[in-house]
Amino acid sequence: MADTVLLGTGSALPHQRVTNADLARRLDTSDEWIVERTGIRARHIAPPGMVTSDLAVEAASRALEAAGLAPSAIDLIVVATATPDQTFPATATKVQARLGITHGAAFDVHAVCSGFIYALTVADALLKTGAHKRALVIGAELFSRILDWDDRTTAVLFGDGAGAAILESRERPDGEGGSGILAATIRSDGRHGPLLQVDGGPGSTGTVGKLRMAGREVFRHAVTNLAQVMEETVARAGLSFADIDWVVPHQANFRIIEATARKLGLAMDRIIVTVDEHANTSAASVPLALDTAIRDGRIRKGDLCLLEAMGGGFTWGAILLRI
Ligand code: UT7
Repeated sequence: MADTVLLGTGSALPHQRVTNADLARRLDTSDEWIVERTGIRARHIAPPGMVTSDLAVEAASRALEAAGLAPSAIDLIVVATATPDQTFPATATKVQARLGITHGAAFDVHAVCSGFIYALTVADALLKTGAHKRALVIGAELFSRILDWDDRTTAVLFGDGAGAAILESRERPDGEGGSGILAATIRSDGRHGPLLQVDGGPGSTGTVGKLRMAGREVFRHAVTNLAQVMEETVARAGLSFADIDWVVPHQANFRIIEATARKLGLAMDRIIVTVDEHANTSAASVPLALDTAIRDGRIRKGDLCLLEAMGGGFTWGAILLRI
């Protein structure tokens, strides 16, 4: 039996930090409203000319360094993004080329804010079949490019960033308990697509489009779906919430994180929160939070982590990961 184990993580943020007060200078909003309704205080925004693969490569390089590996050790690259550099080729193949890798396979996964959970699930499955040995899984987004900067109901919520993880397939010695990814669950329900979408695309308008969201309804679905998929994932591994050291949630809104924790009876001091500094970075949010907490020493080797996310589609999912 093979395990998919985590070897290292990395992340990257654009240099420019934009505060709520900065946004309030050009939008009818306030620091008080944004902090009270979302917990967000700042976000990082990419400069003109930067592309998604720039942040993806930076995060990947840090993850490779943490894993002590050269790029040539990687034979699978999966990039989760809803804001690719171009409609095609895939951002993953651009990352592959920029890392100097010419073997294996690279492709993108599109599940918006749940993208990293989907990408990890796909990579885990490919590693467990033995088809690939070592995967670089990245969530990278430039949501600033698809925001309507005149719409205060969405412009204040999102930011840019990238996070990466290196995973390896390892044979499990007889009689030993599992390590690495213990359970992965992905779900979707396309009926809710219009509640969180971009109003354009290459096959419809021929434009990129801007993000549109029915925030209150998305919020309601998020808490229900996340609580369900977290319970299901923990149960499938034969464990309970008491066994979990850390929850690494999608960072969309502090109130969603809090409401989900309350529904599941989870203490807030076991939950990694970065939404205050990163805002919602879509597919980058979970790996950014994971890397932040590993680097600041909160998440340690051997800890049991529950990763979760929910986003456009709707898509949602959770992963139970022994660090
Ligand atoms: O990552 C994918 C998943 N996405 C999410 O999970 C986002 C889910 N939704 C949310 O996080 C919240 O619904 C929001 C943060 C988007 C909105 O918070 P809310 O508490 O649901 O507020 P609301 O939409 O009910 O709006 C309340 C009021 C409205 O004014 P009226 O109609 O009551 O007069 C809005 O127009 O707040 C107003 N408002 C704002 N006021 C100041 C909306 N945006 C702003 C703003 N500044 N930026």
